[in-house]
Amino acid sequence: MRNLSLQEFNKLSQSSTILAEDEYGKKVLELTDHSIIKLFRVKRFISQATIYSPARRFAKNAKHLQRLNIPTISLIDLYNIKSIKRTAVHYQQLEGITVREYLYSKPVEDKFLAQLGQFIAHLHDKGIFFRSAHFGNIIVTPEKQFGLIDISDMSISHFSLGYFKRIRNLKHIFRLPEDIQLIQNNDIIEKNYLAHCGINNKKFQQDFLRTCQKLKQS
Ligand SMILES: Nc1ncnc2c1ncn2[C@@H]1O[C@H](COP(=O)(O)OP(=O)(O)O)[C@@H](O)[C@H]1O
Ligand SMILES: [Mg+2]
Repeated sequence: MRNLSLQEFNKLSQSSTILAEDEYGKKVLELTDHSIIKLFRVKRFISQATIYSPARRFAKNAKHLQRLNIPTISLIDLYNIKSIKRTAVHYQQLEGITVREYLYSKPVEDKFLAQLGQFIAHLHDKGIFFRSAHFGNIIVTPEKQFGLIDISDMSISHFSLGYFKRIRNLKHIFRLPEDIQLIQNNDIIEKNYLAHCGINNKKFQQDFLRTCQKLKQS
């Protein structure tokens, strides 16, 4: 992780576009060369704050995903900008649009939702538990592959996920009403998930479908 002075940071982010911000300020910046800087607030005062930062987790997860052949961002550098109490990841964009943008842009296609269900099953079979798995953090690439961004909150295990974690992850996937509205109350995602995941257990399948239904109604 490289220390950046405020001056260096300002120079790097000169003329950038703000892609996301919250009540604490700028969060995601697109630089003029189209690379992205994502900032994380440092909440702890102790020196360990940068060792356990979300920026480091982000970088580690990107490496894991690449090893598993799951499209994601390409890391350029990690920064510690003490003067503004932020750590940051600097990365090359994963080309494409978010699933949310894709669904907004055209009528729902069954094939697209089926592929999305299959992709989520693939993540779980590979042991990936992605806590930010809503439609704004899954990218559709120009080659119509799916990939992940916003990857600081993720755990990756050597084993495929068990029943409990698979079902728990649904709460993250179907968390936002704006996403649920986009899929218009159909169950293609979960049906295709079950058709492609490595589990063939009736009780699991029933629980899985029931949880999806409940989440989409609430
Ligand atoms: N690698 C990327 N490729 C394309 N767009 C991106 C990428 N990273 C971020 N973005 C855009 O920036 C937005 C916010 O980035 P994200 O990391 O999801 O931050 P947030 O914490 O605000 O959700 C995304 O929804 C997307 O539109
Ligand atoms: Mg996001």
